[in-house]
Amino acid sequence: MSQSIASQSGKFRIGGDIEINRLGFGAMRITGRGIWGEPTDKPEAIRTLQRLPELGVNFIDTANSYGPDVSELLIKEALHPYGNILVATKAGLTREGPDRWTPKADPKYLIDEAHKSLRQLGVDQIGLWQLHRIDSKVPRDEQFGAVKSLLDAGVIRHAGLSEVSVEEIKAASKFFKVATVQNRYNLVDRTSENVVDYCTQNGIGFIPWSPLAAGDLAKPGSLLDTIAAHHKATPGQIALAWVLKRSPVILPIPGTSKVKHLEENVDAARISLSDEEFSALDREGKALAGR
Ligand SMILES: NC(=O)c1ccc[n+]([C@@H]2O[C@H](COP(=O)([O-])OP(=O)(O)OC[C@H]3O[C@@H](n4cnc5c(N)ncnc54)[C@H](OP(=O)(O)O)[C@@H]3O)[C@@H](O)[C@H]2O)c1
Repeated sequence: MSQSIASQSGKFRIGGDIEINRLGFGAMRITGRGIWGEPTDKPEAIRTLQRLPELGVNFIDTANSYGPDVSELLIKEALHPYGNILVATKAGLTREGPDRWTPKADPKYLIDEAHKSLRQLGVDQIGLWQLHRIDSKVPRDEQFGAVKSLLDAGVIRHAGLSEVSVEEIKAASKFFKVATVQNRYNLVDRTSENVVDYCTQNGIGFIPWSPLAAGDLAKPGSLLDTIAAHHKATPGQIALAWVLKRSPVILPIPGTSKVKHLEENVDAARISLSDEEFSALDREGKALAGR
């Protein structure tokens, strides 16, 4: 497999500054069940991370809450000092146990956690740091002000948001330049369609999470299944090729704890869907999402 396979997905400059290959990696799955504790197969999780630069993947998404802390520490163990890899992290959710997530984004928490991420990742500055959730218990301007203070202090170089509306992006933009937005988006979850359009128009990186999901669209004999067979690909690879074609600002971060799955996902960078295939999948995905 070619060294720079991920570069076939195209390039994007985060904040107009840090250049990455568009097809990245989500590091939420290198933790235990319910995104809690150590992974069941730690050596395989390390091998998966160490395979990333060999495949040309130079954008990793993590968060303080994945594990918690486990994902950041494992990334450091496997890849420090990172070379040209951008490790983006987040804060804004706390954990009480497996599968339990609670928004927490008061300024002190955000600032303390960003400093903790610096230490856990072993870096002097975090290239991209994202507010994981806007906390409804705290005035949002205080949360945006904390992000600005992290930028001003040089703790973080670029800042982004997660699970936000266009109105929230505009409100945050009064405090700092929004470099990225990370919302759930895939063939069959089109809730953020207008956010993708806004990010495209404004050069903001849009990081779709759960990019592999295809639901009933992936059933044997379905349109997705047929297009996948035509490309000698899996439905998951076609789902990735589809989000990559949707907009040049889209930066998918499929997540896995297994080398084999990683290689398969990155190989999607080679797939080029025709306009007809793209539109047909678009229509079917929208119809399914609307049901
Ligand atoms: N901002 C947010 O609120 C938010 C929320 C959720 C996730 N995220 C980020 O988005 C990333 C991706 O989201 P996600 O993990 O929910 O969804 P995803 O990447 O679409 O799917 C991951 C799941 O699919 C499996 N998988 C991956 N590649 C596969 C393959 N080639 N064949 C078969 N199964 C495969 C993984 O299990 P295996 O380990 O067995 O491969 C895992 O269970 C996360 O890692 C995280 O960084 C952000």
